[in-house]
Amino acid sequence: MSGYRDDSQHTPKVWLILDALDYLHNYPDSFHHPLESRLLSRLRPRLTDADQRAAIEEVEAEHEEIHQLTTSLIDRFSALTMDQIIPINQLLADYQKYVELQRAHIQKENRVLIPAMKTILTEEDFKLVNETLKDTPDPLFGSHVWESYENLYQFVVGAPVDQLATNAH
Ligand SMILES: [Fe+2]
Repeated sequence: MSGYRDDSQHTPKVWLILDALDYLHNYPDSFHHPLESRLLSRLRPRLTDADQRAAIEEVEAEHEEIHQLTTSLIDRFSALTMDQIIPINQLLADYQKYVELQRAHIQKENRVLIPAMKTILTEEDFKLVNETLKDTPDPLFGSHVWESYENLYQFVVGAPVDQLATNAH
């Protein structure tokens, strides 16, 4: 991303950005967050703590916000690859907002939701999670990496980015 700044010496790796956003759209936004939402709907009536209830509502709102921002970033980065003119400062600002939102969201889930789920959810709830996860494994971090995410996977595990094939975009 830093390659898009005016003073940058780097060439932006737009294929990498688009692969990462595509993964975030196809797995966390489309599967992982809806699964969390199903669990939250089971958790919600059993919560007695007002702070935990408030945190759940924030998490749900963030799922929606993240989903919309992912789609908007994909649209604009895709437009860039087709040489359309995109206001770059707005795109960079939204990207920064996206990174911060994702970080804060994960931290909030780890701090509030995961402990609440561990304490309150039942065997039956976790059985639902395991079965659902088995049917829809993670295409990047699961047992089998999708071919379309092979370059992204290599990047995540630390392969030098300049040696990765970039013919996808
Ligand atoms: Fe989430």
